[in-house]
Amino acid sequence: MRSSSSSRLSRRATAELREIVSGILPASLTRSGLPGGVESLLVDLPLPVETDVEVPRLAVEVETTAYFVIAEALTNVVKHAKAGRAWVRVGLTDGILRVEVGDDGVGGARTGSGSGLTGLFDRVEARGGQLLVRSAPGQGTTIEAILPVPSR
Ligand SMILES: Nc1ncnc2c1ncn2[C@@H]1O[C@H](COP(=O)(O)OP(=O)(O)OP(=O)(O)O)[C@@H](O)[C@H]1O
Ligand SMILES: [Mg+2]
Repeated sequence: MRSSSSSRLSRRATAELREIVSGILPASLTRSGLPGGVESLLVDLPLPVETDVEVPRLAVEVETTAYFVIAEALTNVVKHAKAGRAWVRVGLTDGILRVEVGDDGVGGARTGSGSGLTGLFDRVEARGGQLLVRSAPGQGTTIEAILPVPSR
């Protein structure tokens, strides 16, 4: 059950990420911005995810980068964290978008063994932002992206 939900999620996230790479954005994100995009990622997740995503429509490249971070981080939670719960928080303050995805799982996330986190660092840096990973063993994982928001 867990592994089939997990592989379904990875397949869907992979398909959506492929669409992003080829310039096709998920319909939920295009239509409803980050609140709708995040909701679509939560369908079928095998653990409770608390969300706080109250942001207006933003420049498409900011929405896309934030979505990409959240999709990969949630995929990692399902694949690796053995978590009981997770959360997604997105907020906009003074022209800075802050995206946080956290879980209460096993921790120990690090770059190098896969391409997901490395890709996120590159993507966020390319937008002039910063990615922070806190993941001490046994203390859960928090991925935080700070992204400057250009005025639209
Ligand atoms: N939320 C998490 N909880 C525990 N471990 C994690 C978490 N996220 C990532 N990791 C660990 O960090 C490693 C690197 O993650 P990354 O996303 O870069 O690679 P991956 O998920 O293994 O592969 P890919 O993303 O390329 O499919 C993972 O292999 C896993 O061991
Ligand atoms: Mg990954």
